[in-house]
Amino acid sequence: MKKILVTGGAGYIGSHTLIELIKLGFEPVVYDNLSNSSPVAIERVEQIVDQKIAFIKGDVLDKTHLTQVFTEHEFFGVIHFAGLKAVGESVAKPLKYYQNNVSGTLNLLEVMTDFGVKNFIFSSSATVYGDPEMLPIVETARRSCTNPYGQSKLTVEYVLEDLAKSERVPSWNIISLRYFNPIGADASGTIGEDPSDIPNNLMPYISQVAVGKLEKLSVFGDDYDTPDGTGVRDYIHVVDLAKGHVKALEYIAKQTSAFGFEPINLGTGHGTSVLELVGAFVSTTGQNVPYVIAPRRAGDIATCYASADKAKTLLGWTAEFDIERMCVDTWRWQSQNPQGYHSN
Ligand code: NAD
Ligand code: UFG
Repeated sequence: MKKILVTGGAGYIGSHTLIELIKLGFEPVVYDNLSNSSPVAIERVEQIVDQKIAFIKGDVLDKTHLTQVFTEHEFFGVIHFAGLKAVGESVAKPLKYYQNNVSGTLNLLEVMTDFGVKNFIFSSSATVYGDPEMLPIVETARRSCTNPYGQSKLTVEYVLEDLAKSERVPSWNIISLRYFNPIGADASGTIGEDPSDIPNNLMPYISQVAVGKLEKLSVFGDDYDTPDGTGVRDYIHVVDLAKGHVKALEYIAKQTSAFGFEPINLGTGHGTSVLELVGAFVSTTGQNVPYVIAPRRAGDIATCYASADKAKTLLGWTAEFDIERMCVDTWRWQSQNPQGYHSN
C-alpha cells in the first residue's frame, strides 16, 4: 500500500481527498497545524471510510518536525494542500503568506530531497492566470497575479519548474494542479467547507444566507461583459477535485521514468455566472437567497473557465458532477451543520 503524506489534510479539499485516497488503496498520513481546520473533520472522514486515519499535528514551517515525520514513515509521495488562501488577508499580511506558502513548501521540498521522496502534487490555483487573454484557459497561457496569495502560488510553481529543470535526467514527478472554483461537499453531509470568518467566496456565502446566518448576498457587479453582467467562474465539485488528485498519483505511479514538472487544470470547462449559481441553489434546495446588486469587488475578473482537455488526456480525469449536484451537496452539509464543525 502506498503511503501518502497529505499536508493540510484536515482542510476542505484535503478532507475530501482522504476519502478518495483510501477508496483507491492509498494510505494517507495527515500533517496539519489546524490553523484553518478542525480535528472533527478527520473524525468525520474516519466515520465515512470506517477506518482510522493517521494524523500528525504539525507545521510545514517546522523543518525539524517534518524531518522526524519522514524518518518515521516511508512515503511514496506528498500531496501538499497546506497553505493560507484568503486573498484579502494576503494583501494586508503579505509576509505571513509568503512565509507560510512559499517557505513552508521549500522546507517540505528540502526534506523530501533529503529522503529521496520525489513524487509531489501541489495545490495551485486558477489565480495564477490572472485576467486571462483567451478562454477556455489552457495550461500554457500567460501567468500573472495581482495579489500576494496568487503570487505565492505562482512563486512555488516557478520553484517547482526550476527544481525539475535542475536535473539533466529528471528524478522528480511534480504535478501542479490548478484548481478552478471548488464547491460542494461529500454526499454524507458530514464534511464540507467551514470558513472561520464571514465567507469571502460565493458558495459558502450563499449557503450561509440560506441557513439564516447572513442576511443577504451582495452580488459584486452586474455590468461585466458576460451574458447577465455578473462574474462567470468554473465551479467544480470538491469530490471531483479530490478524485483528480488520486488520478494524478496513479499517473505518477505508472511512470517508468520521471517527467519533471506538469501543470494541469482541474475544472469542468464550463462557466456559470453569479446569478445562475444563485438560481440553481434556490431551485434545487427550495431555500430563499435574498441578494442585492453591489459594486464590483476590487481585483475581480469577468470570466474564468478552464480547458479541461489536458487532465482528460493525461490523467483520464473528467469532472462528473453538475452545478445542481454541487448545490444540493453544499446545502446538505450547511443545513446539517449550521455552525460548521463547531457543536450545533
Ligand atoms: P483549507 O484552509 O480548508 O485547508 C488548508 C489546510 O492547511 C488547513 O487545514 C490548515 O490548517 C492547513 N495549514 C495551513 N498552513 C499550514 C502550515 N503551515 N502547516 C500545516 N498545515 C497548515 O483550504 P482548502 O480550500 O482545502 O485549500 C487547500 C489548498 O488548495 C490551499 O493550498 C489553497 O491555497 C489551494 N486552493 C484552494 C482553492 C479554494 O477555492 N478552496 C482554490 C485554489 C487553490
Ligand atoms: N461574488 C459575489 N459575492 C460574494 C462573493 C463572490 O458576487 O459575496 C462573486 C465574485 O465577484 C465572482 C464570483 O462570485 O464573480 C466568484 O467569487 P469567489 O470569491 O467565490 O471566487 P474567485 O473566482 O474570485 O476566487 C476563488 C478563490 C481564489 C482562487 C480562485 C481561482 O477565492 O483564491 O477562486 O481558483 F484563486
